[in-house]
Amino acid sequence: MHIPVMVAEVLTSLRAAEGGDFLDCTLGGGGHTRALLEANPANRVTAIDRDLRAIERARGALSTYASRLTILHGSFSTLDDLDLGQRFDGMLADLGLSTDQLQESRGFSFGDIAALDMRMDEEEGQSAAEFLNTISEHELFVVLRQGGVGNEAKAIARTIVKHRPLTSAKELADVVAKVPSRKKDVHPATVVFQALRMAVNRELQQIEDLMGVAPRLVKKSARFSVITFHSLEDRAVTATMRAWEGADFSALWPGAKRPEVLGKALSRKPISASEQEILENPSARSARLRVFQFE
Ligand SMILES: C[S@@+](CC[C@H](N)C(=O)[O-])C[C@H]1O[C@@H](n2cnc3c(N)ncnc32)[C@H](O)[C@@H]1O
Repeated sequence: MHIPVMVAEVLTSLRAAEGGDFLDCTLGGGGHTRALLEANPANRVTAIDRDLRAIERARGALSTYASRLTILHGSFSTLDDLDLGQRFDGMLADLGLSTDQLQESRGFSFGDIAALDMRMDEEEGQSAAEFLNTISEHELFVVLRQGGVGNEAKAIARTIVKHRPLTSAKELADVVAKVPSRKKDVHPATVVFQALRMAVNRELQQIEDLMGVAPRLVKKSARFSVITFHSLEDRAVTATMRAWEGADFSALWPGAKRPEVLGKALSRKPISASEQEILENPSARSARLRVFQFE
């Protein structure tokens, strides 16, 4: 079961106890959605996920809240198309993967021998195997670099191409491990898997699209809380929140227009999980919560 991170901090950030309508953009195991529903008996939640398996699981687990909960299958990048028909007092996005997805042998884990899929929505786009086995060595190098792989990206891209076709996540992890790595504390394939997963699911583009649509979905004085798990995601979120604050970018590029002020980020620094939570749930270690207060 996926353990939701920073639940108390999320509820406080969204003022969930005061009552309202909330949009959970990343339903996952339903932990945050459940907490939002329990924070006040008047709360109503609309929750979406691009993963049909997550939707099915959560429909069962949260059936007692059916009168106050709407669950929809879709991507948060297409919230406009989902035609939600209302605005929200609070929005939450808890990015990345759930523990359930990691444990379902879908190619997200190094040990998976069944598949090299990595799609969060298994009905959409190319699997990681199709992607890896057809991409050019240079394109693969670019994907790895953009996904945070260091100087060894070139050697890794070359080694992967040499060993194609790859059919399982374990095969990919074993091939990547052939390339000497300076990092001794983590499996050498950790960042490669992350880079590949981000490319297959177009994760950074999805976040940018979500940030683009969010201001149109909130009521006056609403809050938007985003939990990220790595610096590339965090950078994308922070850049948009700075723009929403009306940050003056004219010093960065000539002629840049000062955007309309939409509100204020609630703190310069992201909120992190407490030591106690990290002890109980090590996945919370890299979680960063950022909160925006709309005007
Ligand atoms: C970290 S989990 C969320 C866990 C959830 N907050 C909970 O308490 O159980 C992230 C979820 O977001 C979903 N997801 C990732 N990108 C998405 C997107 N673009 N649109 C909709 N859901 C997405 C994943 O499928 C996954 O189920």
